[in-house]
Parts: sequence; C-alpha cells; structure tokens
Amino acid sequence: MTFLKFRIAKETNLASLKKGLKLFSKETSFLKGAVDIDGLPPADKIEVCFAGRSNVGKSSLINALTRRKSLARTSNTPGRTQEINFFNVGENHLIVDLPGYGYAYAPLEKVQSWQSLLTAYLSGRVSLRRVFLLIDSRHGVKNVDEEIMNLLDSAAVTFQVVMTKVDKPKQKDFESALEKTRASLNNHPTAFPEILLTSANKIEGIDQLRTIIANIE
Ligand code: GTP
Ligand code: MG
Repeated sequence: MTFLKFRIAKETNLASLKKGLKLFSKETSFLKGAVDIDGLPPADKIEVCFAGRSNVGKSSLINALTRRKSLARTSNTPGRTQEINFFNVGENHLIVDLPGYGYAYAPLEKVQSWQSLLTAYLSGRVSLRRVFLLIDSRHGVKNVDEEIMNLLDSAAVTFQVVMTKVDKPKQKDFESALEKTRASLNNHPTAFPEILLTSANKIEGIDQLRTIIANIE
C-alpha cells in the first residue's frame, strides 16, 4: 500500500464523533472582536482559528459548525470580516474567525493594518493549537496562501488544510486543485498530514471538523 502523505480525512470512530457532537451542542456565543493586538482576549482556552483568502468561506464554515445562521457575518463581497472575531464554544474552547487575506481592492492602509494584525496573531498566540487553512476547492493553493504557510512554518504553528465549497467545482477542476494543494503542502513541514473536504452550504465534512476540534488537546 502506498502511503499518501496528504490524504483526505475519512470518517472517524464513533467515540470521537460523539465528542465532536457533544462539544458543539454546548452554548456558543460571540466573545469579542479585536482590531489590534492589545484587544485580544486572554490566551487561556483551547483555541483554533480559520484563516484563508477573502471570500473562501471562513465565516460560513463557523456558522455551519455552530449551527448558527449568522454568528459570524458572511457576505458575497470579499473583505467582510475586518476584525479578529472570537467565539466561545462551551467553557473551554475559542473559535476564531480571521479577516481574509489577498483582497486587493480595499484601501492599502486598511489592508496593511489587517495583515500586520493577522501576522502578529498567527505567529504569537500561545494558546493557538491549530490553524485551519481554508482553500477554495475550485482554485487550490495560491501565492498568498504560500506566504501564510511560510509564516506558519517559521512560527511552528500546525495548520490543516480545509478545502471549502466542494459543492461547486466540476470533478476535473476539483482534482487539479487538490493536486496543486498537495504539491504545495509537500514544501511545508508544519502542514498536518490530512486534508478535510467541506461544504458549508451542503453541510459536508462539518461533523468531521467538529470531531477534529473536539479531539485537539
Ligand atoms: P471574508 O470575511 O471576506 O474574508 O470572507 P469569508 O472567508 O468569511 O467568506 P464567507 O463565509 O463570507 O463566504 C463568502 C461567500 O461564499 C458567501 O457568498 C457564501 O455564501 C459563499 N460560500 C461559503 N461557503 C460556501 C459553500 O460551502 N458552498 C458554496 N457554494 N458557497 C459558499
Ligand atoms: Mg468572513
């Protein structure tokens, strides 16, 4: 049997699945939005964040996970999320929605201030257990994603690729996006060895993502 390094995450066992369902049946609430590094809440919980290009589906995925239609604000217009938004899940977990990167049409000053906040958060947050790096399943990894992966490698923060909007691409386009993504992950030592496929619209891969988060120590 050949060992495929960046394999697709498959169903997990029943006990882990139950743990995921249990965590996300707890109360979820908005904790706070931070616009600068001084505004971050205490780093005293198990924290995971959702990073990715503008419009990739970060906020939608958080809403699907928490079964809340508009806990995180979503939009057709890239650049919707402009702060680092923290959400409580139960008593011990924080889920973090990040502003998207790679959006060229916002004022330069604004883009620079998001980017420096994003960089400071991703490289310096001690309670951050895992970054879910969202990649659009129509496009695969782009240069701006590579830059974030390089940053995460140098900060030694584990990141796991989550392909979003799997309901959208044709099979052929999806396969080439996946191959492109795998090729790129090969160059990144902090990449988690499994890729998760999701659709927030069709609720695919959501239980698996809940399970992954609940089983992070
Ligand atoms: P920013 O906050 O601007 O960085 O964007 P975001 O990454 O938070 O994306 P958001 O969740 O706002 O979604 C962007 C657009 O993609 C919205 O129009 C969503 O409805 C759409 N979208 C999100 N997830 C899916 C999905 O699984 N399938 C499809 N077809 N569309 C999706
Ligand atoms: Mg958003």
